[in-house]
Amino acid sequence: MLAVKVPKREAEKIRKKLLELGVLAKGYAIKREGDFVLFPVTGQVEGFELVESEFERLEKRYHSYREVVEVPEELRPLLPSSFDIIGDIAIIELPEKLMPYGRVIGEAILKVHRHIKAVFAKGSKVEGEYRVRELIHLAGESRTETVHRENGIRLKLDVARVYYTPRLATERRRVFEKTQPGEVVFDMFAGVGPYSILLAKRAKLVFACDINPWAIRYLEENVRLNKVNNVVPILGDVRKVAGKIKADRVVMNLPKFADRFLREAMMSVKPGGIVHYYGFGPEEDLFSEHEVKIKAVAKELGLSVEFLDRRKVRPYAPRQFNIAIDFKVE
Ligand SMILES: C[S@@+](CC[C@H](N)C(=O)[O-])C[C@H]1O[C@@H](n2cnc3c(N)ncnc32)[C@H](O)[C@@H]1O
Repeated sequence: MLAVKVPKREAEKIRKKLLELGVLAKGYAIKREGDFVLFPVTGQVEGFELVESEFERLEKRYHSYREVVEVPEELRPLLPSSFDIIGDIAIIELPEKLMPYGRVIGEAILKVHRHIKAVFAKGSKVEGEYRVRELIHLAGESRTETVHRENGIRLKLDVARVYYTPRLATERRRVFEKTQPGEVVFDMFAGVGPYSILLAKRAKLVFACDINPWAIRYLEENVRLNKVNNVVPILGDVRKVAGKIKADRVVMNLPKFADRFLREAMMSVKPGGIVHYYGFGPEEDLFSEHEVKIKAVAKELGLSVEFLDRRKVRPYAPRQFNIAIDFKVE
């Protein structure tokens, strides 16, 4: 194709000129030849030295997999605009009608997001005691273990065996900001350690409990990976250890059932200590139901609570939110 050949030192000025004239050919890599630079052009350009040359084609840059995926036109509006990325694994929620196109959707994600190596579809809701979901392999490597970076820490985990969501990163950071040096923290539902390991960077000691053996296995690995030496992993039902631990700060990240563990949380907090409680609430009244339960349990135990903060953490389902309540126990 035709090219404008210019001395290297003038290249930038001439590139701008060619752009202005609208003659610079798009989608080709600019070429260097000794002290000269060759710009591919779409036609004759007066006032420049023109030569004939071959250029390498640049790959088109896409911003979304939706630009490249091929699905029937009537299903296009159903394509999700976002998906979760955990390490190098993508997890997408596909409506039933798009499931037959899972493989092409997965391949389109791999094509556009080069750092993603495996794509899965959500196969169920987060279920059971371990809070995990079924995953359906769509494309790329058939691997579910990865390392995810969040808040400056590395978390190794298996997306099929443990609970983990990247959507809580900001909330975890918020709890970290509130943590004071010297504190003892009790992470009642620790998972692979996104709270525990982060808070260990500031606290004196972190007790991290989980009932899922895979979660504790990865938590132990993450303790090593992040070189923290003040996390105590505890495998088992938190009901067995609660009360034996006395913490300045308790994290209750089990929103579906946290209300069932309020006694354990309050028994494990020192006077004046703080509990970070999570739950789900309807848009029209996010917090009341939870606050009533918190007050009732405190009363039963002869304690009093002071509500310090209430937050909407993230949307959870239509008109439902994941909420957080911080309260002090005296
Ligand atoms: C919603 S996940 C949160 C994990 C982690 N905190 C995070 O942010 O990724 C809740 C965790 O609680 C654990 N769990 C559920 N019931 C439990 C119990 N009775 N005792 C200890 N852990 C429990 C589950 O295995 C799961 O890992």
